[in-house]
Amino acid sequence: MTVLIINGPNLNMLGTREPEIYGALTLPQIEEKVLARLKVAGIEGVSVQSNAEHEIVDTIQSAVLKGVDFIIINPAAFTHTSVAIRDALAAVAIPFIEIHLSNPHSREAFRKHSYFSDLAVGVIAGFGVDSYLMAADAAIKHLAN
Ligand code: DQA
Repeated sequence: MTVLIINGPNLNMLGTREPEIYGALTLPQIEEKVLARLKVAGIEGVSVQSNAEHEIVDTIQSAVLKGVDFIIINPAAFTHTSVAIRDALAAVAIPFIEIHLSNPHSREAFRKHSYFSDLAVGVIAGFGVDSYLMAADAAIKHLAN
C-alpha cells in the first residue's frame, strides 16, 4: 500500500513562516513523523511539496501509474483557488483527505471556501502537525477496510 502526501505552496517555508499560525516544525520534520506513522502500519509513504500548480496536477495524474492507494493533501493556498487540482483528483478517483495545519474557517473570509472538501473522504484542520498524523491514522483505517 502506498500513501502519497502532497504539500502545496509555501509549505516549504514551515518553521519560519508565521509560526504563530503554522507552528515551529519544518516540513521535513513533519514528513518524518508522518512517514514513520505510516511505516509502522506497513504502508509506504511518499511526501512531495511544490509551489507550482501544474506540478501538483502532474503528480496527481502520475499517481495512478505509480499505484498510489490514497492521497493526503494540504493544498495550502490552492485550496481556495485551484479548479485544476480539484479536477485532477476527480479524474484519478484516488480517495483523499484534505488537511490544514490551521483552521481556515477561523481566519479570513477568503479561506472559508475549499475546492476540495466536497470530493474528500474527510477534512482535518486546525491541529497543527497533528492534522497530518490524524490523517495518516485515518488513511491507515481506510486502507484496512
Ligand atoms: C493552510 C491554510 C491555507 O489557507 C493557507 O493558504 C496555507 C496553509 C494550512 O495548512 O493551514 O498555505 O493550508
